[in-house]
Amino acid sequence: MNICVIGTGYVGLITGACFAEFGVNVVCIDKDEKKISQLKKGIVPFYEPGAEELLQRNLKANRIIFTTNVADAVKNSLVIFIAVGTPPRGDGSADMSYVEEVAKEIGKHSDGYKVVVTKSTVPVGTGERIKQIISKNLKSKVKFDVVSNPEFLREGSAVEDFMRPNRVVIGAENKQAIAILKDLYRPLYLIETPFVITNVKTAELIKYASNAFLAVKISYINEIANLCEALGVDVQVVAKAMGLDQRIGPKFLHAGPGYGGSCFPKDTNALAKISRGNNILLNLVEAAIKTNRNQKQRMVDKIMAGTKGVRGKTIAILGLSFKPNTNDIRESPAMEIAQDYLSFKLGAKIRAYDPEAMQDARKVMPKAIYCKDAYDAVKGADALVIATEWNQFRNLDLARLKKLMKGKFFFDLRNIYDPKKAREAGFEYYSTGRV
Ligand code: UGA
Repeated sequence: MNICVIGTGYVGLITGACFAEFGVNVVCIDKDEKKISQLKKGIVPFYEPGAEELLQRNLKANRIIFTTNVADAVKNSLVIFIAVGTPPRGDGSADMSYVEEVAKEIGKHSDGYKVVVTKSTVPVGTGERIKQIISKNLKSKVKFDVVSNPEFLREGSAVEDFMRPNRVVIGAENKQAIAILKDLYRPLYLIETPFVITNVKTAELIKYASNAFLAVKISYINEIANLCEALGVDVQVVAKAMGLDQRIGPKFLHAGPGYGGSCFPKDTNALAKISRGNNILLNLVEAAIKTNRNQKQRMVDKIMAGTKGVRGKTIAILGLSFKPNTNDIRESPAMEIAQDYLSFKLGAKIRAYDPEAMQDARKVMPKAIYCKDAYDAVKGADALVIATEWNQFRNLDLARLKKLMKGKFFFDLRNIYDPKKAREAGFEYYSTGRV
């Protein structure tokens, strides 16, 4: 089968490369010529474990090609995935202009039956809108179907999530389109992946409802963590016992500085906006948005209270990406805490280290000193803040860190150290939801 994927950002590239791995012929399209020429050489423009090997293998096998030419790709493909960005607008709603532009192009260049699939997270009703735009732009009377097939990939484990998903959701109105999508995903059928077949609108809502639920779950445990601090209780024990209840489950119950990334903050805001537009108030989602904002402020308050103010002091920040195994700093709590609060508002000097995100961080936090590793970052620092739980931060030599630092304050926002051991090493240790 020949397919094309429009948009070679995170979702588009992983989707394209993984379908190529399934043996499908994939054309990936982007307007950005520089990006396309890099991808042709097998260079992935972001850090994602396994992505570059996957791309290079499929380039070599001629199963994936890259181009800026939408017209030819659309003409030669039976299935067209839309994977362009839907960035947030000032009011929280999703900016649909890229999706609409792509729909126009698809309409203009379709010369036979096409299945047009949205992968991007789009507001409920977008499928219908895409249908109208394509119809309006068709040059001849050809048939097409619009399908919603939301992605559930997590950055840092996207390839694994694609190859072994918990479920595949297909929203379509027509049996032929469903059969074509099922055929495309046949390798997953063989490993008994559950498929949810539904209509377009439902599939669109499933994506928002899933992401918002996880955001609520994280905010819930973060609030419980705050209560744990007041009561002298360990949130990790509470979360562990809660998670053993199969109705709750252990995942996404890690207390920390709040969720970040390009999805949860954007999608919770967009869902709240969609709901308000339909005269429905999603109180829990609105509360999660507020709790998440407060959680970052709480981390800063904790650092301020512990150090008795940070003005002029040096703070070592370990971890800048919004989570481990990615170089993505979009809406990263680590960046917000370091740049917006500690450095900009409160006048601290920042020494930072992250295994993958420093190149991007430099552009938004140019005043910070970027270091070669964790030990380099803490040199002469008054306080250490672990903001993102990269594996390489989990087993640092605490005595060595303490010796290199000027001060004794250690803020482990991700709860990766044993409080007793950290205190034994001479630190004044603070974490999230543990005393
Ligand atoms: C999220 C969803 O998990 C994916 O299913 C979805 O496909 C994706 O958004 C998307 O819509 O594209 P992602 O943003 O890559 O994936 O990362 P997550 O692993 O979900 O983490 C999001 C944030 O929550 C991170 O800042 C992480 O540190 C935080 N988090 C996660 C916690 O604070 N505690 C937890 O227990 C889990």
